Parts: sequence; structure tokens; C-alpha cells
Amino acid sequence: MNYETILVETKGNVGVITLNRPKALNALNSQLFKEMNGVLDGWENDQNIRCVVITGSDKAFAAGADIKEMEPLQFPGTYVDDFITPWDRMSRFRKPLVAAVAGYALGGGCEVAMMCDIILAADNAQFGQPEIKLGVIPGAGGTQRLTRIIGKAKTMELVLTGRMMGAEEAERSGLVARIVPLTDLKTEALKVAENIAALSLPAVMAAKECVQRAYETTLAEGIRGERRVFQSLFGTHDQKEGMNAFVSKRPPSFKHR
Ligand code: CAA
Repeated sequence: MNYETILVETKGNVGVITLNRPKALNALNSQLFKEMNGVLDGWENDQNIRCVVITGSDKAFAAGADIKEMEPLQFPGTYVDDFITPWDRMSRFRKPLVAAVAGYALGGGCEVAMMCDIILAADNAQFGQPEIKLGVIPGAGGTQRLTRIIGKAKTMELVLTGRMMGAEEAERSGLVARIVPLTDLKTEALKVAENIAALSLPAVMAAKECVQRAYETTLAEGIRGERRVFQSLFGTHDQKEGMNAFVSKRPPSFKHR
């Protein structure tokens, strides 16, 4: 299938989406989300896809929502048409998403990276929420997710001034799992995704769901939920296989059931 705004490939059990609007530094427009959401819908139900990498170019993961598309918008239209809501699809994707970020991850670009589960950053990555400079605020979760991830002090500074932070500061702040040299970024991201895709899919999905719950509930509720999910995994083939393989000193052969 041909897409206008993204490139789509599968490598074994890993799906790769490359944001591909090079002339606009991968600015995120409605068409891009229509295409990306369609791909995610397909992969959600595809047993063969067990992890997804989202990446951009060496210069830009994404320089934000498309300002040219947004400029003429008016309030009643943004409300009635529910502008930005289609972006949420990513955050409801149940399999792991790895963001491989090089260059600019600004505004909506930073927000899309934060909807992923693991962010690997190239050494040239720059994160920021510069919406304030355009007379608006982050609109795809930036004020909420960034605060939960890096805390109020830095979020306030970034959101209120529009300052960008480099890869090292982002790693220090807990936004980024790891920094890798730009030339290795895509290989490393694929390696991480392939490692995840080789593990038991129900366990991986359950782990993601439980970590996500930590952002949305109390500690006691989260721990109770985690325990139930942990207990439920004893109903899977893969628990028997994983533990028997360990005891028998052989590699496991997961069925993802
Ligand atoms: N939307 C639309 N087009 C964009 C864009 C964006 N977010 N970012 C860059 N572009 C376009 C530029 O208009 C330019 O196109 P033309 O050649 O047709 O003029 C092209 O990409 C290259 O950009 P620059 O010439 O500006 O490149 P640069 O290297 O000089 O600067 C930059 C790079 C600092 C990232 C600068 O492009 C920039 O500041 N971009 C905007 C960043 C921004 O404000 N993002 C937030 C958007 S609002 C948002 O995201 C809302 C939300 O929360 C959902």
C-alpha cells in the first residue's frame, strides 16, 4: 500500500513506521494520522506484529503539529470536528511502541514520542514544547505527560518558555531511556524491538498495561491490579514454556498464547 506521509515496513515480527514529510520536517497533519492510525489498527490485530518502531529522519522526528494546517482553524470547528483526538489512537495501541528520535521532537513531535513506551534518542535529538511561542499550548498531552515523566519544574520551564532540551538533558530528566549515536539509532531501536518481539506477547502486553496503569491510579490500586494480571499469566502456555525452559536450561519457544 502507498502512503503519502509515512513509510511502512515490517521486519520479522516488528513493524516500522517512518514519518515521511521531509519538506516540512515531518510536521504532523491530519493525513499523517489517518494513515498511521490505519496501520496501527491493522497491526493491533496482526498476531505476527509484536512490537512497533516509530521513527523520522536524521533531522527531525517531527517538528510538531502542522502549523500551516492549523493556522486557519476556528474554535467551533476544532470542537465539532474534535481536532487532535485522532492523535490518541497511538496511546491506545496495546503492543509496545519504541520511538527512535533523531533531530527535532517538538510540540506534537515530543507528544507523539511520549505516547510511545520507550524513547531512544540520537545524540542530536532536541525535545521541546514550543507551542507557547505560537500563542497556544501543547494540545496532544504535552502538559500532562511531560509533567508526569520529568516533573513540574522542568515541564513548567519548557512549556512556559518554549526552550528545547538536548538528548543528554532529556536522558537525565527521565524522558529518554538511552542515547545512542545518530548512525546507530535505527539499528539499536530495531534491536530493542526485536528483543521484545521474541518474548511472550501476552506477558509483554500485560507488562505494558500495568506500567501504564501506574500513571493513572493510586499505588494500592496499581499493585492490586498488577497482582491480578501476574496471577492471570499462569493461565498462559508461555508461562509454562518460559519456566520449563529455564528449569531445563534450554531457550524457550513461545506461542504468544
Ligand atoms: N508545521 C508546518 N511546517 C513546518 C513545521 C511545523 N510544525 N516545522 C517546520 N516546518 C516547515 C517550515 O515551514 C519550512 O517549510 P518551507 O521550506 O516551506 O518554508 C520547513 O519545514 C523547514 O523548516 P525551517 O526552515 O523552519 O527549518 P530550520 O532548520 O530553520 O528550523 C525548526 C527548524 C526550529 C524546527 C523550525 O522549523 C520550527 O521552529 N518549527 C516549528 C516548531 C513548532 O513550533 N512546533 C510546535 C507546533 S504546534 C503543536 O505541535 C501543537 C500540539 O501540541 C499538537
